[in-house]
Amino acid sequence: MGMGSGYGKVILFNEHFVVYGLPAIASAIGAKTTALVERRAGAEIELRDERPETKGYKAEKFSQQQESLDRMLKFMNIGTRDNAFRITLAGDLIAASGVGASAASCAAIARAFSEELGLNYSDEKVNEVAYEGEKGYHGTPSGIDNTAATFGGLIWYKREGPSHLMERMRLKKPVEIVMGNTGLVADTKVVVAGVKERKEKEPEKYGRIFKSAEQLAHDARKQLEAFNLSKVGGYMDENHELLREIDVSCPELDVLVDLARNNGALGAKMTGTGRGGYMVALTPGRDLQDRVAQAIEKKGFQALRTTIGV
Ligand code: MEV
Repeated sequence: MGMGSGYGKVILFNEHFVVYGLPAIASAIGAKTTALVERRAGAEIELRDERPETKGYKAEKFSQQQESLDRMLKFMNIGTRDNAFRITLAGDLIAASGVGASAASCAAIARAFSEELGLNYSDEKVNEVAYEGEKGYHGTPSGIDNTAATFGGLIWYKREGPSHLMERMRLKKPVEIVMGNTGLVADTKVVVAGVKERKEKEPEKYGRIFKSAEQLAHDARKQLEAFNLSKVGGYMDENHELLREIDVSCPELDVLVDLARNNGALGAKMTGTGRGGYMVALTPGRDLQDRVAQAIEKKGFQALRTTIGV
């Protein structure tokens, strides 16, 4: 049997903009998805999904998950006519929108097959397989999610045509964050397609917003590396406004973002696809992290306490 894992992620700056080649910043989080691949009798793939989930997520993503798996098997040249496998997904990462759940599962599956079949995949190869798998969920993924899921750490990411640039960033020390879950499942394909449509309709407005987003990523990188967290928080707030302007937030995300700010977070924004899923708040120190998480939980939402820059 083969085992593999993939990190969950949080996008700190420029989701959506990254699809168009703008730089973005993401970090792996403490939670992971694991995959176990075992041979079994018969001639089929059996997928057991034992990940914890936001209600409805797995059912909603079922057909995309099948497409993703087919793509990865083909890419890895694994025929299933004479080989049957059971894949079991588990781990502590909640299967939900906004935490890179699909990418984490793709990286985990690629690693598990590599181990089971003695393929000796490098991280780069795992990332390529996971990117192929992400196409089943995203249509035109930027590649940031699978890159964060495969390599971990804090990364500066830029799509460059069919390729990408990834640079590792270092923080002076890990920083606590809170991720608030709206409990709503979002379809990345649909939300990304909506941005494309609006961008084509309103090129001037979108041109202005995209310019600001590009500058913001560079400024945020500088302040993250200087460990100037109050500035970083301010930039997260600004990034949320830009994401609202391209219409990928939703009332539930805005409520959680305000709640986090009102309880002392240095900054807060939606993260990932938007229109549901998670938001992220910058909450250095365990006390602030607890205060913000508890405020979110008191309102009946789930809060994930984790860190970036590990
Ligand atoms: C989804 O986690 C991030 C998006 O920017 C899509 C992508 O980068 O492929 C919305």
